Amino acid sequence: MAIRAIREFGDPVLEKTAKPVAEMTARYTELIEDMLETMYDAGGVGLAAPQVGILRRIVVIDVSEDGSDPIILINPEIVETSGEQTGMEGCLSLPGKQGQVTRPNYVKVKAYDQNMQPVEKEGTELLARAFCHEIDHLNGHVYTEFMEGELQDVGEAAPEEVEE
Ligand code: NI
Repeated sequence: MAIRAIREFGDPVLEKTAKPVAEMTARYTELIEDMLETMYDAGGVGLAAPQVGILRRIVVIDVSEDGSDPIILINPEIVETSGEQTGMEGCLSLPGKQGQVTRPNYVKVKAYDQNMQPVEKEGTELLARAFCHEIDHLNGHVYTEFMEGELQDVGEAAPEEVEE
């Protein structure tokens, strides 16, 4: 496994639509392992493949306190949402910043796992937010497009900091 360089806002790769994964390959397996390692190393709760320069529809998420609950989503699609939550959101591609974004409070996702088996995942609150944020990355969107108000500076390791 290896830590990959995270692309930052302004990099054109973050504005492109990622392509579906047709089949799992050794290269994608390695990419997924690297994405998890990169996300944990950076202290984030989610990372999408375009953030490491790969335009494929692959997302990793872990909203647990101790990095014990990795979720791997291949070709994810949001199939159901409900409710609303408004809160601060950040992104590993825009370190040290956060902004207020309103998202659904409940999100259901259909995807494939790392073995290309179909999976359904449901999340509320932070996990629902992470599903939306990461799938946006696959479509070339970043949270600042949906932000209410101004970007804010966050101190290092602010408790409410959420980087995805
Ligand atoms: Ni992000």
